[in-house]
Amino acid sequence: MNIAVLGAGYVGLVQAAGLTSLGHRVRLADSNPDRVGQLLARKIPIYEPGLGELIERAFDNNLLTVHSSNREAVEGAEVVFLTLPTPAGDDGSADLRILEAAVDELAAVMADDQLVVTKSTVPVGTALALRERLRSRGCGVGVVSNPEFLAEGSAVADFLRAERIVIGAFEDRHADIVGDLYAELPGQIVKTDPVSAELVKYAANAYLATRLTFANAIANISEEVGADALQVLEAVGMDRRIGPHFMHPGPGYGGSCFPKDTRALLSITDSIGYPFPLLQAVVSTDAMQRARILDRTERLLGGCSGKKVAMWGAAFKARTDDTRESPALILARGLIERGATVVVTDPEAETHEFSQFDDPVDAARDADLVIVATEWPEFRRVDFSRLAEVMRGRTIYDVRNLLDPDVVREAGLEYIGLGRPNV
Ligand code: UGA
Repeated sequence: MNIAVLGAGYVGLVQAAGLTSLGHRVRLADSNPDRVGQLLARKIPIYEPGLGELIERAFDNNLLTVHSSNREAVEGAEVVFLTLPTPAGDDGSADLRILEAAVDELAAVMADDQLVVTKSTVPVGTALALRERLRSRGCGVGVVSNPEFLAEGSAVADFLRAERIVIGAFEDRHADIVGDLYAELPGQIVKTDPVSAELVKYAANAYLATRLTFANAIANISEEVGADALQVLEAVGMDRRIGPHFMHPGPGYGGSCFPKDTRALLSITDSIGYPFPLLQAVVSTDAMQRARILDRTERLLGGCSGKKVAMWGAAFKARTDDTRESPALILARGLIERGATVVVTDPEAETHEFSQFDDPVDAARDADLVIVATEWPEFRRVDFSRLAEVMRGRTIYDVRNLLDPDVVREAGLEYIGLGRPNV
């Protein structure tokens, strides 16, 4: 099929590349000329495992073209995916202005037999609102909601091995067209109405954020009572009704999705007058997680003033270069506010906010404390004897429970995990 994908961010790039791997012809558009230029030069603007290979193959097979104009991209496309930013507005609700501007532009050029599909996470009711917006401009195209469930760092694999493909359409024939696009994928296709599809996305992310926040609370309780949270959570997850995923304690959730989507769902529940204290508690408990880690760091340092901390990690999680709402950087800023100096190291993510080093040991030179804030496997392979030689202090505070405590201690350093007694 001929497809257009508008917006070459994380979701758009993976969606475009994934569809070409299923044999579809994709026209990908972005309003940022630098991004378009990079893609035309076959440079991938983000770090996402497997994406480069797919895009390279798509260009070689003439299945992918890149455009700076939405109008040009939608010409001849049977299905147009909107993968545009929906940032959080001041009140937490999703700001749809970019999406609306694109739809206004499309209304003038799209024919009624084309389909517009929302892929970005949008408030419930958006597909209906966009359809009315298009109709009021004389455009009768069909509108479908097809939310994405890609996690950064495994987005290509998530696309290719989708567990479910949710398609919310006003008309069955529209759902069939979008379903056919993904026919080769293993995931179960769930056909529903647009509002339900939109709510699935929020419910899934809010549930995962809740689950993870619960695991963090159990880790904190473990810390206080002297239990080992890793063993506790592992045993809890062995119950088939619970399962092992999203139970790994850490500095709380970051990234472009959970913080934004939990707030957006709260703004939706506010607007319908439904109180959702459970989710409110998740959002505030998540913020408390980083405050707790900062307090503990301050105690470990004996006061922050004049102390140097090496932050291992800048990305919000491993296998991505994305630093949006990254707990590592929130911790770094918090320590600076408390009077410490912070330097950062990360294998992929770059930050211009802090001095950054490629080598974790170089970052830790003269440091009073190292915080392991992102779970990059590279940090496990550090030479801890060399680390012990260059550090001023002795303590590694591993808030991801990434390192092997014995290896750290054998190098003469003190290991502190999250939610763990002195294992
Ligand atoms: C998340 C969802 O997992 C995707 O299904 C969804 O499509 C995506 O949001 C989105 O809405 O676009 P993502 O934000 O890329 O994906 O990252 P996750 O892997 O879900 O991690 C979210 C946060 O939770 C990260 O800060 C991560 O470090 C943290 N986390 C996750 C933990 O601390 N412990 C865990 O056990 C799991």
